[in-house]
Amino acid sequence: MLYALIFILAYLLGSIPSGLIVGKLFYGKDIREHGSGNLGATNTFRTLGMKAGIAVTLADILKGTLATCLPFLFGFDIHELHPLLVGIFAVIGHMFPIFAGFRGGKAVATSAGILLGFAPVLFLVVIGVFFISLKLSKYVSLSSIIAGISAFIYSLIFGDWPLIAVVSALAFFVIYRHRANIQRIRNKTEPKVHWI
Ligand code: G3P
Repeated sequence: MLYALIFILAYLLGSIPSGLIVGKLFYGKDIREHGSGNLGATNTFRTLGMKAGIAVTLADILKGTLATCLPFLFGFDIHELHPLLVGIFAVIGHMFPIFAGFRGGKAVATSAGILLGFAPVLFLVVIGVFFISLKLSKYVSLSSIIAGISAFIYSLIFGDWPLIAVVSALAFFVIYRHRANIQRIRNKTEPKVHWI
């Protein structure tokens, strides 16, 4: 019963639609009606600018990080309830938020938050790969996908089974949620960033 409660709490935490809250509250805009239509940090940067983008990025990362803390807050050790498993429920909430009509983001920032909470070295590797890829390609979406794949490869080399399993799932979510971006990259219609 307590396990179910923790999974539900993690899902609800992930469901907090930070991009929607910041957009509606401070700018009177639903970011899902602008830019790529995605309820994520990138589309917040694109639609609302730097300040809102940073706030939403941090909030979305925090959702994943806090979710990995839930088992410890409820007194479970890692063998009883693995923090990575709980983190996945926050990512599901982020992608399909109950508080925003199940139209959420693409799993990137909240997945990174899970890594920050449980595998900080992998988090740093992923952030490094993301920014190198962004510098070279100028595509946030492609860089998110490459970061996801690099996390998967890292987990295969250095991780144990829980890390491999969870990072595989996260990488799959990231790639699957970027289907439209992949199509746009192929059509050369995906927007690039120019600040890096
Ligand atoms: O974090 C999502 C990002 O990789 C792509 O977002 O809005 O360009 O589809 P967007």
